[in-house]
Amino acid sequence: MSTTPSTTTPHSMLAFVLKAYGGAEQACLEQVPVPVPNARQLLIRVRAAGLNPVDFKIRRGDLKIVQRYQLPAVLGNELAGEIVACGDQVHRFHIGDRVFARVAKERMGAFAQFAIVEEDHAAVIPASLDFATAAAIPLAGLTALQALRDELRVGKGQRIFISGGAGGVGTFAIQIAKHLGAQVATTASPRGAALVRQLGADIVVDYTQEKPVSVLSGFDGAFDLLGGDTLEQAFSIVRLGATVVTVAGIPEPQTASKDLGRGLGLQALFWFASFSLRRRARQHGVHYRYLFMHPSGADLSELARLVDAGVIKVIVDSVHPFESIIDAMAKLESGHAKGKIVVTMP
Ligand SMILES: NC(=O)c1ccc[n+]([C@@H]2O[C@H](COP(=O)([O-])OP(=O)(O)OC[C@H]3O[C@@H](n4cnc5c(N)ncnc54)[C@H](OP(=O)(O)O)[C@@H]3O)[C@@H](O)[C@H]2O)c1
Repeated sequence: MSTTPSTTTPHSMLAFVLKAYGGAEQACLEQVPVPVPNARQLLIRVRAAGLNPVDFKIRRGDLKIVQRYQLPAVLGNELAGEIVACGDQVHRFHIGDRVFARVAKERMGAFAQFAIVEEDHAAVIPASLDFATAAAIPLAGLTALQALRDELRVGKGQRIFISGGAGGVGTFAIQIAKHLGAQVATTASPRGAALVRQLGADIVVDYTQEKPVSVLSGFDGAFDLLGGDTLEQAFSIVRLGATVVTVAGIPEPQTASKDLGRGLGLQALFWFASFSLRRRARQHGVHYRYLFMHPSGADLSELARLVDAGVIKVIVDSVHPFESIIDAMAKLESGHAKGKIVVTMP
């Protein structure tokens, strides 16, 4: 294997670069050097990249307490493309392989013509998928899989509440929960109701008309994608002793240790920040857990298998040319995407 990119790999590339934390005007398209992989990394010619709320949260500086980037930095957290160079110690992949990945959180870099991916974070793209559809899977798919399988341990016959079922994570979560044997209740507006039903949701609560807590109770677990009032309602929707996992609420001490591998400082900070939420969860007799998903090539291979088997259908809201990424990001930030928004590279 060779770390040397092929002679057709240029020295510079178009990338979506964050200049300073702040509004949409702080990120722009510009030429930057093509990155060089180390011995355990892959250099990918990016064909498509998925957009996620974490992209604009990073841009705004919302996540600085967890991850502070040295700016300027190339944005973007998930991609699909072809390998153009492999480090000397890469054993599972070859130049030319079609792969997809949630890239390393500390580096990002997916919104570019070339990007670095750790070998352990990549997986071969499902044979049935094009690059744009494959790029829609990693971050949202891994989040849903890790929350439902590892945190909620969803099993046959359980009743699971998933808030916000029509978005990027929700469309995966409904299908994975159904695959694990659960009955699923979700919330959606009339804009997303048909979609979530088509994906298998057994009960759909129109959140524009009624509160889920007024019609749902006794559930075996909840996966919250919204935070705020909906998260607090989930405490009353699940039965005594059940777990509410959120990816949109407030991190708690386990988030710092288990998901981020951080020490007592961040654990203490999250302990204070989540104090009243955890107290309310305790008052309802339920467990509260905030999950930060992690990149995983092994879990992505499992998602690829489920997609190839027809268990998971990837829902793509829209595909935009990379040159229009500012508009695509504005659309995502409006909060009404149905499934995933993707950009394709020139
Ligand atoms: N911690 C982690 O590791 C992690 C990982 C992934 C995602 N997240 C977070 O999880 C959240 C969801 O991510 P996503 O990618 O699924 O977002 P998304 O795709 O932007 O979600 C948009 C969807 O949410 C629906 N929605 C908005 N308000 C709603 C409400 N009150 N009730 C029900 N549905 C509502 C919208 O439907 P309508 O248009 O019908 O309103 C839309 O279909 C974000 O905050 C994201 O940052 C965290």
